[in-house]
Amino acid sequence: MTQFDPTKPSTTESGAPRESDAHSLSVGTNGPLLLHDVALVEKLARFDRERVPERSPHAKGSGAFGEFEVLEDVSRYTKADFLQPGKKTRMLARFSTVAGELGSPDSWRDVRGFALKFYTEEGNFDMVGNNTPVFFVRDPMKFPDFIHSQKRLPDSGLRSNNMQWDFWSLSPETAHQVAYLMGDRGLPRTWRHMNGYSSHTYMWVNAEGEKFWVQYHFHSDQGVENMSNEEAAQLAGEDAEVHRRDLFDAIKRGDHPSWTLSVQIMPYEEAKTYRFNPFDLTKTWSKKDYPLHKVGRFTLNENPTNHFAEIEQAAFSPSNTVPGTGVSPDKMLLARVFSYPDTQRNRIGTNFNQLPVNAPVNKTNSYDKEGSMEFHHSGAAPVYSPNSYGRAYQDTQGPVDNGWESDGTLVRSAYSLHAEDDDFGQAHTLVREVYTEEQRDRLVETVTGSLIPEVEEPVLSNVFQYWKNIDAEVGQRIQDLYFEKTGKTQS
Ligand code: HEM
Repeated sequence: MTQFDPTKPSTTESGAPRESDAHSLSVGTNGPLLLHDVALVEKLARFDRERVPERSPHAKGSGAFGEFEVLEDVSRYTKADFLQPGKKTRMLARFSTVAGELGSPDSWRDVRGFALKFYTEEGNFDMVGNNTPVFFVRDPMKFPDFIHSQKRLPDSGLRSNNMQWDFWSLSPETAHQVAYLMGDRGLPRTWRHMNGYSSHTYMWVNAEGEKFWVQYHFHSDQGVENMSNEEAAQLAGEDAEVHRRDLFDAIKRGDHPSWTLSVQIMPYEEAKTYRFNPFDLTKTWSKKDYPLHKVGRFTLNENPTNHFAEIEQAAFSPSNTVPGTGVSPDKMLLARVFSYPDTQRNRIGTNFNQLPVNAPVNKTNSYDKEGSMEFHHSGAAPVYSPNSYGRAYQDTQGPVDNGWESDGTLVRSAYSLHAEDDDFGQAHTLVREVYTEEQRDRLVETVTGSLIPEVEEPVLSNVFQYWKNIDAEVGQRIQDLYFEKTGKTQS
């Protein structure tokens, strides 16, 4: 959306002709500058404010617009309008790295963000996932500490493998995600060649009010491809923007990437007795227990016309659900529902939802009002509810249709364990049964490489033990290779 007319001579922001884009107003040719030179003062003041704070995690990324099309009938599981057979919905995707800042290389080893916004007729539905089906921690109290450990040291401002491994090795629930990250998928070849996952369990509700737990999987139709450590390191030096460029160029030449959406569906009651706690974000559901149901496909076919307006200012949030969908008792997810709009009110501004990239396509009727940069408003309509003057409001009471039962005791605690819950079991399965021999070899090389030269005791011994807990043989190989490569002697 723009009022920009490139054929007209430049103006001030209030629309008057600018006197010059090249020369400041001075007292005589060589004289001092003048404070009332609106053209200069406005230009510098606006320049001083060009940057908004970058996203706290996931600062570096890019994305594109596209279309989501439902190809199968999942109406017996959800009444969500945008998931009904044949429906097409405009959408936006943003891919990112987690730990790096705005200018950081796209090819650093990291989890990749996979954020989607569907502009449905019932409001925006966002799916803010990653390219891995699990996460590092399961309690939101640990999330800021986790991110701090991935960012920079307080004194030197340097990133630190010692700090990363210290946090991971003291937090055994990270094992599954770390086993992904240190494997081949930690270095996707492009964003087009990676899958996306909700990671969390969400809810679907059908027209009869029946509830289901679901996990979303977005499989790349381009296939999954990764890079070697050497390629990634070289690219980090040669082209920090390699993934941003790849996506933009592919769409520009008409090579539109697409992803197929499938869901795992768990009947509501089965969550209580499933062998893994289905709300524990560090676990996946076995596909043998809950196979994938195909839903549809999204295709990215439209580049942003302005990166700042449409990507940097995009605000994705797991709180954006629509009727027929909902969240779950996953503690991480419940905290995210608060955290995203909170950071966006700070990062972009109170009225961030009014920006074209974030605004829903349907009309809104919210009693929230004012705040900086309000653009849409309710005119002279009552600003309170209830009111006697015809402005509609809601007064629903009783159980919500996408809720669940909960006990009433307030505690600080880990989740109650289901039959097969532990921190290392699924990580072991990934490393031993999913990875091939060659993939395990690369994993050992990558982990060992990340320990040299910086990681020190007691973190080093904790890391060796952490990997032995995941897989005894892999742990021993990492330890042996470390001492072989460093020439140090094992005590
Ligand atoms: C309690 C846990 C978490 C908290 C508090 C948290 C918080 C945040 C915050 C504050 C942002 C920046 C948002 C913005 O400035 O617009 C962000 C971005 C993001 N987070 Fe999380 N996060 C959590 C867990 C997760 C998990 C589990 C996932 C994936 C399953 C995830 C995926 C993402 C993605 C993809 C973005 C970038 C969104 C974009 O492209 O704009 N986060 N997170």
